[in-house]
Amino acid sequence: MSNQILKEQWVQWLDQLAEKEFVLIDNFLPLNILQSLEELFEKVYQKDDFNPAKVGSSYHEKRIDEIRSDSIYWLDKTQHSSIALFFELIHEMMQEISEFLFLSLQGYEFHFANYPQGGYYKAHLDQFKERNNRMISVVIYLNKNWENGMGGELKIHGENELLIEPIYNRAVIFRSDTILHEVLPTQFERKSLTGWLLKRPSDIGVLNY
Ligand code: OGA
Ligand code: NI
Repeated sequence: MSNQILKEQWVQWLDQLAEKEFVLIDNFLPLNILQSLEELFEKVYQKDDFNPAKVGSSYHEKRIDEIRSDSIYWLDKTQHSSIALFFELIHEMMQEISEFLFLSLQGYEFHFANYPQGGYYKAHLDQFKERNNRMISVVIYLNKNWENGMGGELKIHGENELLIEPIYNRAVIFRSDTILHEVLPTQFERKSLTGWLLKRPSDIGVLNY
């Protein structure tokens, strides 16, 4: 299968990921993929299939309203054939990252997220203590007409501290184990697609427990 994104482009992005532990990419997805994702998001939203997000791995997860207040919908490669090209792109990303950063990635998990007005996610790492297979975090924003000052910024903590507006088709890719980050309270509904590239398939996490 041929790459959807040029090798040179991946190398440029992954250089930054290696150096700063995160990379911000505008106009990330090809438009046909973006559209298929938006259509699915809309469909799930209309059907009211989003669920309140939880905190922690499946063993310890609980809804803690003081920590996060988004709702999520897990994507399933076998069910959501309309976004097959998206999964192909993620596969491509996994191969490039494995090669370039010498990680052995074997799977991924992705969900849509919807933050209501006032929603936030306090500072956290994406790698769980009990299940440490999340290696790389990927967030792609789906907010058309987002403007500065609407809140909902992704704040990257640490020496390269940064506030990132969740604008349409912007992606942020970062290390799940080291990058402390949070979502500041949003003044408007905020839509995104968030996922993780995994060291091992999540269903054998129990071996690690
Ligand atoms: C997360 C997360 C960031 C964002 O879901 O773990 O940190 O900008 N999301 O939506
Ligand atoms: Ni996070």
